[in-house]
Amino acid sequence: MAFQERVFSGMQPTGNLHLGNYLGAMIRWIELQKSMDCIYCVVDMHAITVFQDPADLTRAIREVTAAYIACGLDPARSVIFNQSQVAEHAELAWVFNCVARLGWLNRMTQFKEKAGKDRENASVGLYAYPNLMAADILVYRATHVPVGEDQKQHLELARDIAQKFNGDFRQAIAARGHNSDGFFPLPEPLIQGPATRVMSLRDGTKKMSKSDPSDYSRINLTDDADAIAQKVRKAKTDADALPSEEAGLKGRPEAENLVGIFAALDGRTKQAVLDQFGGAQFSAFKAALVDLAVARLAPIGEEMRRLVADPSSIDAILRDGADRARAIARPNMDAVKDIVGFIR
Ligand code: TRP
Repeated sequence: MAFQERVFSGMQPTGNLHLGNYLGAMIRWIELQKSMDCIYCVVDMHAITVFQDPADLTRAIREVTAAYIACGLDPARSVIFNQSQVAEHAELAWVFNCVARLGWLNRMTQFKEKAGKDRENASVGLYAYPNLMAADILVYRATHVPVGEDQKQHLELARDIAQKFNGDFRQAIAARGHNSDGFFPLPEPLIQGPATRVMSLRDGTKKMSKSDPSDYSRINLTDDADAIAQKVRKAKTDADALPSEEAGLKGRPEAENLVGIFAALDGRTKQAVLDQFGGAQFSAFKAALVDLAVARLAPIGEEMRRLVADPSSIDAILRDGADRARAIARPNMDAVKDIVGFIR
């Protein structure tokens, strides 16, 4: 018996959501909600694996929620909520702490990067973070997970955890008449490839990042039309005209990035963009990109500012989403408790 198809993904509530988050993740999420059951989470419990100022965290949770909605995630169609309101995430994460092996977590490259040299001083939560991520997905028995390349290893860990749980508890699972493939599906990554990787507007070899000290390196989703236009105009370019063939973008990271942004914002391929602009100077291309970026992004910023100005309406959306998320998570968590042998 196959598992019911369900999409789960999440984003951390940290400030400065930018064009990279939109083109790299959100557009895909919006597309998926048209054809599948989707659950989109603001993963606030993941955020506190490194210290967050409480007031900043509260603001960031509302801001990411506003971004989800302003970009086009529909709370009537998809479940939109914040992780900490659905206690089942933490509950299942504990069980997974006891399923995952130290050796597995020791291989996680993101922990090594984030903990840096002072590993002794990293929080236990940062170390166990992938187990919580597995619980996020599997507490809904989700089958498809859109994530960036950087999360691929964590998703493989989630599959390993699901598989080990299914194996360790095979008899208890069968005795309770669950899916003969096991209690948990092995969730499939839907990897957002490098094609949608948005690079810094100041340096085409670096990823666009919320932590870049130069605000000119990124277009924030909250930027207004003037800021968007300014940043596109000031974006780094090279001296040559645009090539007519995609191959001509090789070795020209800034040109490749701007053409890629144009293509993604306009829903066409880079080659289609070059069919139009090949041979043109950057001045002409940038003028068109300003118009396109302002048309596509300024309304998102406006809507975000409108939503954030009314926090109680965002909180109501999150509460409703949490209720709907819990309605799926609770029966699954109860089944896990029975399988493990807890009394409830
Ligand atoms: N770890 C992810 C990130 O930093 C966020 C995340 C948490 C997530 N739980 C998830 C993504 C579950 C997909 C599914 O980007």
